[in-house]
Amino acid sequence: MRISSATLTAALSSVASASLQVVPGGTWTTPDGEHLQAHGAGFIEVNGTYYMIGEDKSGGHSFTNVNCYSSTDLVQWTYVGALLSQTSSGDLGPNRVVERPKVIYNDKTGKYVLWMHMDSSNYGEARVAVATGDSVCGKYEYIRSFQPLGRESRDMGLFKDDDGKAYLLTEDRNYGLRIVALSDDYLTPTTDVFSWRLEGGNRVEAPAMVKLGDTYFLFASMMTGWDPNDNQYTTSKSLGSGWSEWKKFADQGTNTYNSQTTYILKTSESSAIYMGDRWVKDNLMASTYVWLPLSISGTSVSMKNFVSWVPTSNFASWQNPPAETSYEAEAATYGGKARNIDCSGCSGKVAAGYIGGPDNGSVTFTGIRSDIDGLTTIRIKFLNGDSSPRYANVRVNGDAGRKIAFLTARGDPASSTLHAQLKKGSDNTIVIEGINGGWGPDVDRLMVPVQ
Ligand SMILES: *[C@@H]1O[C@H](CO)[C@@H](O)[C@H](O)[C@H]1NC(C)=O
Ligand SMILES: *[C@@H]1O[C@H](CO)[C@@H](O)[C@H](O)[C@H]1NC(C)=O
Repeated sequence: MRISSATLTAALSSVASASLQVVPGGTWTTPDGEHLQAHGAGFIEVNGTYYMIGEDKSGGHSFTNVNCYSSTDLVQWTYVGALLSQTSSGDLGPNRVVERPKVIYNDKTGKYVLWMHMDSSNYGEARVAVATGDSVCGKYEYIRSFQPLGRESRDMGLFKDDDGKAYLLTEDRNYGLRIVALSDDYLTPTTDVFSWRLEGGNRVEAPAMVKLGDTYFLFASMMTGWDPNDNQYTTSKSLGSGWSEWKKFADQGTNTYNSQTTYILKTSESSAIYMGDRWVKDNLMASTYVWLPLSISGTSVSMKNFVSWVPTSNFASWQNPPAETSYEAEAATYGGKARNIDCSGCSGKVAAGYIGGPDNGSVTFTGIRSDIDGLTTIRIKFLNGDSSPRYANVRVNGDAGRKIAFLTARGDPASSTLHAQLKKGSDNTIVIEGINGGWGPDVDRLMVPVQ
């Protein structure tokens, strides 16, 4: 068969985009140069674009914004705006708690409906709150907060069924977890559908539901505060009855790879992605995102951990991390006063220190190989002893560079993701330098997919 050049280009571009990777637990820098701030997030797809709606923790624990980011590849996320922002007083005023925002679309009213956990700073109010928007990522109109059906509600989730009915998943510390039906406009809880009494193996919170085929899957964490635990799931063919015993889905004893469920993203009738938060409880803005593909067979779910993975073009399957070449910073070229520093957790026990600063320390990696021309996720392995992020300008093949964030990382190097266009061959160059005299991270090495 003769392959037309158009076919060949399409095939090449799908290979090229397939080298973008999800890096669980990494620093995920968005184009504004900051770590993505959408914790406890919900997701909604509109016309082939995914929206990630979550908590902005850049100002600490108290509510500042419900942020919205968009992506078409689930890897590169761009800040679009805030659905809600802090006001001078009231529910959205100073020292308030807003957690786990979730959005669904109401086909009848044409409104996007946002539910969230609303609380005082000591979690004494235990309410939900609701708001609506005319566009998914625009400004929302705040409506009210209240206790659903007169009961306490802390962690919550939201589920829209195939038939257009919607449900609030609500955790009431005096009783347990409940599924509560919502009114047709999704603004009011109406009736109890099912509940788990808070006892034995039913001590669950952080609920997230997905329906695959004719089966409902409900995921939740156990109750250990901000600390992670082995999360669980239960299944049923009916929302109101027949729920199975709670079972673990990640490897036993890993505390769900140090994460807590926030959302399960359906990608086909038989596939879904687990989205969790790795909370840093004393520095919430530095919490990271642990997203992993679920392996689903009938009603059985399991999940393996990956350093990184590649969502394939329809997101319904994935590839394990590609083979990588590592490039040691201490073997690269230093500029300014950059120099070797001891790093017991680093490969070779050495990292490049004094990046940035008044003497413009930099490290230049040359001879980086890629087997294709294309957009590639590179992991920058680094340390940052500060509690606030450090930043670097990272230039690829002579471009002007982009600002990359590096969250706190002590002891073992962490990964920060760089999504950049590499050239086929072995003469790619990456420069890591400071920004305006600020200190950059200590750089251990680059991990570059071979493809
Ligand atoms: C989605 O696409 C359809 C068809 O192009 C359009 O009518 C609709 O307004 C779009 N919706 C949004 C939210 O952009
Ligand atoms: C570092 O870079 C800045 C900005 O380019 C420049 O003004 C400054 O002189 C440099 N410092 C040294 C020590 O080269």
